[in-house]
Amino acid sequence: MIKKKVAIFASGTGSNAVNLIKYFSNVDSIEIAFVLSNNSNAPIIGSANELGVKTITLTNAQAADAEVLIANCKEHDVDWIVLAGYLRLIPVPFIQAFENKIINLHPSLLPKYGGKGMYGRNVHLAVLENNETETGITIHYVNEKFDEGKIIAQFHCAIDPNDTIQDVEGKIRRLEHGYLPFVVHQTILN
Ligand code: GRF
Repeated sequence: MIKKKVAIFASGTGSNAVNLIKYFSNVDSIEIAFVLSNNSNAPIIGSANELGVKTITLTNAQAADAEVLIANCKEHDVDWIVLAGYLRLIPVPFIQAFENKIINLHPSLLPKYGGKGMYGRNVHLAVLENNETETGITIHYVNEKFDEGKIIAQFHCAIDPNDTIQDVEGKIRRLEHGYLPFVVHQTILN
């Protein structure tokens, strides 16, 4: 069987990357080729290594260079890329080289709370400041416009009036861990 190969890009804790690695370790037709990070101190590097997945660490300059990203992906026959908590801008020639093959996870219901500066806690703070009654996650294709690629799936959760930022983070994490692997799997199969 020819396996589809997936690269995961992650910059920090990488709980979603770990979750993807564990999920796909039970899927015969899909393999995680490597985890790439722009941060050599990112906890995800150690976690991926412990799980037996190859890791690639780039400097920020290398991560901004499409040729470097393309060369790493081609060398490992990568078919799909999943951005799971990856905090660097993806260079346009890389997006063009993997058109409709790059999937991003965003912790809000895009188009709300997307764009520049809207990552991690900043998103949840803005959501709470605006007294939103719901939030959620968006799984979408990456195109040249930040956070504006075609939406693959969204999942919602309610915000209760007394919710703290930790509460919202927990709700978002549960949605991400519950749905991202399944949505990536289905997207690759389609
Ligand atoms: C997630 O909330 C994801 O939506 C966002 O960054 C966070 C990464 O968390 N893009 P982790 O590193 O996977 O734990």
